[in-house]
Amino acid sequence: MRHSIVAGNWKMHKNALETEDLLNELIEKLPTDKEVEIIVAPAFTNLSSAAQHLEYTNIGVAAQNMHQAEGGAFTGEISASMLTSIGVNTVILGHSERRHYFNETNAVLADKVNTAMKHEMRVIFCIGEELKDRQTKQHFNVIFDQLTDGLFHLKKENWEQLVLAYEPVWAIGTGETATPEQVQEMHAYIRNQIARKYDESVAENISILYGGSVKAANAKEIFSQIDVDGGLIGGAALVADDFARIVEAI
Ligand code: PGA
Repeated sequence: MRHSIVAGNWKMHKNALETEDLLNELIEKLPTDKEVEIIVAPAFTNLSSAAQHLEYTNIGVAAQNMHQAEGGAFTGEISASMLTSIGVNTVILGHSERRHYFNETNAVLADKVNTAMKHEMRVIFCIGEELKDRQTKQHFNVIFDQLTDGLFHLKKENWEQLVLAYEPVWAIGTGETATPEQVQEMHAYIRNQIARKYDESVAENISILYGGSVKAANAKEIFSQIDVDGGLIGGAALVADDFARIVEAI
């Protein structure tokens, strides 16, 4: 069901001690009276302890990635059942850094989504165009392909396990944020494509987050757009005060 979500993607930051410190700060500083789901995604090595640490709080835990296979000879990889067995039932898939640095194609991501669904995990699926796509006015086509090839094979009921994050690659970690108008335009486009492929109810019920240089200073304006249901936050999620202010902005 569509609702507000603020998720922090910690990427490859924070060792075990630093994770504990940041979680303690977040527990202290994050609001508890807001109608918003709060999620943090620490590194794999700290997921189990984070899940335990946050068990009786209003903060959920997600993994930043997982492998599509059930198990096997895939050195260095993490499976869906490894995650669910430690109480992690949400996974971020398709982050642009995974797509670019680790060659995750839409086809691979479709497999990962299927595996996650099979394990009844919730997926935060990231899509977003590169700067050259926007400059050549291909951004809608890129998003259309990412949706079609990554997600549109799913059954209507699978969409209850999905959250989308629109993250224009040119706005991630660059300090450059898409304008609220650009964000709203793309979120409306995404919802529209989902309505065309499925129906209005699927389109209306999906939460679509924006990600890309969201800060305390710009969060309110972005979150106030009608088709924006929250944010996927990178850099600003590593500072408890900043993350708390972003959550307050919902
Ligand atoms: P950023 O990262 O907030 O640091 O731009 C967003 C993301 O990568 O999800």
